[in-house]
Amino acid sequence: MLKEMEKRTLIEKALEAKRNSYSPYSKFAVGAALLTEDGEIFQGANVENASIGLTICAERSAIVSAVSHGKTKFRAIAIVGSQKSPTPPCGACRQFMAEFGDFTVLLIGENEILETTVFELLPLQFNLEGE
Ligand code: THU
Repeated sequence: MLKEMEKRTLIEKALEAKRNSYSPYSKFAVGAALLTEDGEIFQGANVENASIGLTICAERSAIVSAVSHGKTKFRAIAIVGSQKSPTPPCGACRQFMAEFGDFTVLLIGENEILETTVFELLPLQFNLEGE
């Protein structure tokens, strides 16, 4: 269970990360903050590219950063987009998060926070047999 204080910190960190979004094409900035099991927070922002398909979402940026620092066990991720309602992660990000198991997902809207989990967002995710 996430404590209220942890939630607040994660939300602030996701908002802070959103400010680093590189999104000149969609103008839709997204920020994410990922809490590891040992209490560290890794931030990520969406990074777009003129070759649109190469765009990397904020959630994947945060996960790549954490894994690059040797962290693969997560408790929660907060995601904030650029719309009033909470921004649900895209399908690719759901599969990417599911690689690292089930953890809390906080979707931050202007007046609303949706709390869900990775496996709730992606039931029956693809797995290699025996992994
Ligand atoms: N985006 C994310 O960063 N995360 C998602 O889960 C959904 C979409 C980004 C990708 C692109 O830069 C912009 O939002 C508009 O699609």
